[in-house]
Amino acid sequence: MSRGFSPQGARLVSLCFSSHSRIILVITKTTTTRKTRLSRAITPVPHEQATDARLGRIVRLLMEHATVVVSGTKIAQEISSNRSEVWRLIQQLRGLGVTVAGHPATGYQLKSVPDLLLPEILGPLLRGTIFDAHVHHFYKIGSTNTAAMAAASQGAPEGTVFLAEEQTAGRGRGANSWESARSAGIYCSVVLRPALPPSDVLVMALAAGLAVRAAIEQVNPRVTPDLKWPNDVLIDGKKVCGILAEMNAEVTRVRYIVVGIGINVNHSSFPKELQDEAISLRMVTGSESSRVELAAALLKSLDQEYRLLAEPRGARQSILRRFAEHSTWVRGKQVRIEENGSRVEGTTEGLDDRGFLQVRTAQGVQTILSGTVRAQ
Ligand code: BTN
Repeated sequence: MSRGFSPQGARLVSLCFSSHSRIILVITKTTTTRKTRLSRAITPVPHEQATDARLGRIVRLLMEHATVVVSGTKIAQEISSNRSEVWRLIQQLRGLGVTVAGHPATGYQLKSVPDLLLPEILGPLLRGTIFDAHVHHFYKIGSTNTAAMAAASQGAPEGTVFLAEEQTAGRGRGANSWESARSAGIYCSVVLRPALPPSDVLVMALAAGLAVRAAIEQVNPRVTPDLKWPNDVLIDGKKVCGILAEMNAEVTRVRYIVVGIGINVNHSSFPKELQDEAISLRMVTGSESSRVELAAALLKSLDQEYRLLAEPRGARQSILRRFAEHSTWVRGKQVRIEENGSRVEGTTEGLDDRGFLQVRTAQGVQTILSGTVRAQ
């Protein structure tokens, strides 16, 4: 399910930002879960590598024969290798938290279905979506967004998905980072190539929030997430998901968009500095959620929203209406927005037809183009 481009060209992203022939806009969420010091630059990890595809093939084989012990020889045949290599790979899987019983003499058996976002596990659940055939998985990566932007600049097709178990330089809006503990959350970036002008990309980012919301509700029907303009998903007033949408565009035409989604799924706690603002699904429901199920629901939902938006008449009005319906922030909320030293205070009055937040202030209604929206 992998295509032949190299995600380690992550440094190209900074070239894109400085290129005179390209415009990069960053349309992002409004708050992030961890502030970085301004001086701290986020640098990509140079040695990140896509997950060895043989690990996924072993997991799939063991899943297909879940009730029996599978011999090392059979596994070796499956991955065109030898038994000692199988042993080494099984040890790697164990190191990643997959419970595999057995050893070379007896064969191997999975003790439970691993909740890893491997293409071999997730791919079959995405049939019929644009994400079907392009899932890339990393056990550890700097940032899936950085990798996806680099891959997109090298021609990665629409629907390419980057998923990681762990990010060492997960990026939030601006100079913020994103807490990306190993296998606790969903760290996902998708490449889209919509035939849209850049002015429509905010609506797409809002649609991504709707997709996250729908996926969370589908997997946990008793949870009701709230959308905060433009890109936060909250539960009980705390952030369960952040979205970082970045694009490369000409003035009238988008070349590609990367929508990066971070969902706090099975975190049992957060670092002290995040405790007041971050929450995970596990903290809300008291039990673990399947990341595979949630990631599949998310990508399917995103696929639906995206197709809608691509229709000739577009779905802009539907997206704006549904966003407002599922948000306690869009209308009648006392807010303050701070951005680049300026501050706006007032009451929210809905979204304009491009998706920008309207705020009634003492000076009249102001259109908020970006910034961190906080309750007064
Ligand atoms: C925010 O709320 O500040 C946006 C957070 C976006 C985090 C996601 S995790 C997957 C993708 N890779 C990144 O480096 N960031 C996004």
